[in-house]
Amino acid sequence: MSFVNARPRALAFLAGCLALTIGAAAQGQTSARGEAAIPHVLNQDGRHALIVDGAPFTILGAQVNNSSNYPAPLAEAWPAVNFIGANTVQVPIGWEQIEPVEGQFDFSFVDHVVAEARRNNVRLVLLWFATWKNTAPKYAPAWVKLNPERFPLLTRQDGTASYAMSPHSRTTLEADKRAFVALMTHLRRIDGDRHTVIMVQPENETGTYGSVRDYGPEAQALFDGPVPQALLTRLGKAPGTWRQVFGDDADEFFHAWAIGSYVGEIAAAGKAVYPLPMYVNAALRNPVEHQAPDSYASGGPTWNVIEVWQAAAPAIDFLSPDIYDRPSRTYEAHLDRYGRADNALFVAETGNDVQYARFLFSVLGRGGLGYSPFGIDYTGYANYPLGAQEVTEETLTPLRDVYRVIAPWQRVWARLSWEGKVRGVSEPDDRSSQTVDLGAWTATVGYRRWQFGQPEWTWLGPQDVVPGTETPGGGAVFAEISPGEFIVTGYRVRVDFNAKPSTDGKRRMVLRIEEGHFDERQNWVFERIWNGDQTDYGLNFTDRPRLLRVVTATY
Ligand code: DGJ
Repeated sequence: MSFVNARPRALAFLAGCLALTIGAAAQGQTSARGEAAIPHVLNQDGRHALIVDGAPFTILGAQVNNSSNYPAPLAEAWPAVNFIGANTVQVPIGWEQIEPVEGQFDFSFVDHVVAEARRNNVRLVLLWFATWKNTAPKYAPAWVKLNPERFPLLTRQDGTASYAMSPHSRTTLEADKRAFVALMTHLRRIDGDRHTVIMVQPENETGTYGSVRDYGPEAQALFDGPVPQALLTRLGKAPGTWRQVFGDDADEFFHAWAIGSYVGEIAAAGKAVYPLPMYVNAALRNPVEHQAPDSYASGGPTWNVIEVWQAAAPAIDFLSPDIYDRPSRTYEAHLDRYGRADNALFVAETGNDVQYARFLFSVLGRGGLGYSPFGIDYTGYANYPLGAQEVTEETLTPLRDVYRVIAPWQRVWARLSWEGKVRGVSEPDDRSSQTVDLGAWTATVGYRRWQFGQPEWTWLGPQDVVPGTETPGGGAVFAEISPGEFIVTGYRVRVDFNAKPSTDGKRRMVLRIEEGHFDERQNWVFERIWNGDQTDYGLNFTDRPRLLRVVTATY
């Protein structure tokens, strides 16, 4: 069984190779002074990685409430952030906050949040609330809001003004862009050597409710004109007007192109001064059933217009869903819509209620960059029914639990994810077991199991329900670190490995199961062997973080 003995060295070698690969990819952006490469996104062969300090990074995020972007409420975020063990915090920066008077900038809160993040040892994602925040211009400064002649609103089909800004106003775009560029310039000055801020989200949940597009005269003239070549090329379409090319989808696609181009221009201008990764977040469209565009945020980066946005906004690294759908079936469907070969999966927002925590395993299992529940602070605000009814240590405990399963080795996980070697599942609402395909092996992931025996063993009397499994909450992730060898961890699950039928006439067995951890150099550190009761009834993960290395053998 030299196979087993060879593994630790092979793993170290593998780690070395990967470090070299990643290093080479990041090297081009390492400064002459040897500063860590600026954060960036890598995409290759349908795999994705967020590179932070020169290596793949998994976002275990937390987003503060909207109005926690001032020093006093922000102070009430850190205890919640630290309780769950998030490594990245998303904080809004309002346009009204940094440019209350036109041309006069105040970056005091930006300085404050960067200093506070460093003190709390987390990274930041800044959210630029400007022309669009949940589709509305509420975070625009008063000098914008009070001057619709200069900064026009979108015109509805009946000729009335919408609440939302027109994406066809060059004046509004230039004003927003100027402020955003000022923000990015300031960020580069205060953080260009540390990269506490690792990403920026220009705007927030763009699109328009109640009007599929802008019907103002300028917009109408563009709509009656030719579809831009970049979009035709992206979609492989022949030239024509919007209606000719896209038929019934024309109005929505036109609006998505208009907003995407606007946001893309702002992102590109920001990146020109400081090229941090930039993504946009979406208020979602139904992922499985048809939904008419007048019933959601039309023109925003919904799944049906992902290609339109990609063509309109090449400076945007990826499009992200904000998922507040509680049913597991639709949650997974949203992940499928955004986790694509051409789009890195990052759940920019999700609910902070207990049922959502497990979906981290589904995100990571798809090779996602991470996820970030919303409303993580103790300011006393709760966005139920989207999230929890109150935000307390009790309601945040499942999130803390799943984060501590991943956090100690998130860098190793992110590297293996970038290599395309990861899988993961979370507990469906019907509590049924799942089968995970691991090449020559499958893993059956079961829920609501005790650590010993089988559920059908009732001769000692009926079994109690496993505490902590009253609502669906389990999940597991797998990473193949070399052929037939896996790192496995999970939360409130039982994992059984099963060999697929042999195709080479050889037999297979699970030879050895080690509990351990990864050290700072990403080497596996053995702690003990699991055997006997600990493996006779599958690998049982409770709410305690446990990392296992499963070595299979062929003989
Ligand atoms: C999605 C938005 O992006 C957030 O800013 C927030 O408004 C939530 N919805 C609701 O709490």
